[in-house]
Amino acid sequence: MNSSLPLVAIVCPVEFKFSDPEALLEKQVLAGVADVKTVQIGLNAPFPDEVLTADAIILWHGPKVDAGVVSRLQKCRAIIRNGVGFDTVDTAAAAKRGIPVCNVPDYGTEEVADHALALTLALCRQLFPLDTEAKQLGWKIQVAAKMRRLRTLQFGLVGLGRIGMATALRAKAFGFRVVFFDPYATTGTHKAVGIERVASLDELLRTSDVVSIHCPLTAETRGFIGEREIALMKPSAYLVNTARGDIVQKAPVFAALRAGRLAGAGLDVVENEPLRTAEEAATPNLIVTCHAAFCSPEGMVEMRTTSASIARAAVQGQPVWNKVN
Ligand code: NAI
Repeated sequence: MNSSLPLVAIVCPVEFKFSDPEALLEKQVLAGVADVKTVQIGLNAPFPDEVLTADAIILWHGPKVDAGVVSRLQKCRAIIRNGVGFDTVDTAAAAKRGIPVCNVPDYGTEEVADHALALTLALCRQLFPLDTEAKQLGWKIQVAAKMRRLRTLQFGLVGLGRIGMATALRAKAFGFRVVFFDPYATTGTHKAVGIERVASLDELLRTSDVVSIHCPLTAETRGFIGEREIALMKPSAYLVNTARGDIVQKAPVFAALRAGRLAGAGLDVVENEPLRTAEEAATPNLIVTCHAAFCSPEGMVEMRTTSASIARAAVQGQPVWNKVN
């Protein structure tokens, strides 16, 4: 390691089996500009000196950079979260010391949108029941009546941000009539992409055949979809959640599925993840995908390249991007 160069420390929890501890990708991006070192530490272990004296920190999910850690950073020019969430960093304490905290909010936008459509198609075209039937050596298409023509259906998005918009375009391409509810979307956003805006969440729930959740988890959206909201949905409708588990209350959704008051649910995320009991897992017409919607090797490469590029700018004294504080 050339000690005349600044140091970028990649902080990684020991529990996380980082497949590239040599950080070959980050080293490529930072070649000639900074040395790179992966530092693996326990979730609650103190930060070692090589992190406290680093010129920039790239942080995998896990180790907490609280106010105490921030106060001991000697010359850090940026803390970069390898991912979307930044709740593990005391952003206010960092701001007080003039240290930008950055994230990578868009590395999985396409994957999550693709996943929402994959769940939707699996439900509307009954892929899993058909697969089960075929593997039980049946060939009667017992679910034929449930296999819907997409062009006759309404796809309702809750949240029209990055992922919501990418999902809207995909749903439109499949022929759905696409509507959305997002109180914060700029007036006319829907006109740019040729979809329709509804005035309320209730209207979206009452009229949609697929309801797909794409808003963030906030104080306002926690438990957003509960018993009252499920009761508003058509019994033939499908609920898809690729946002955050705590936006949708698990008990009323599972109860509605068991009672046949909801045709199906495709959940990448679940309240109080993972599933807890065999009874939950046996809920009919339920697809669950382990909070994996963001996953792809391509997305990982994009995320790490972006983090390393931000670190490169920071150690060179250039403006950083994706700043959250
Ligand atoms: P974004 O910030 O671009 O869009 C969120 C949209 O939700 C915004 O347009 C906002 O106005 C809207 N919104 C906020 N409050 C709302 C409300 N009360 N009702 C309706 N709409 C509301 O975020 P992005 O990138 O589209 O991500 C959306 C969410 O997807 C993230 O917050 C995250 O929780 C989740 N996510 C899930 C992943 C997975 O692997 N399953 C991976 C990445 C993100």
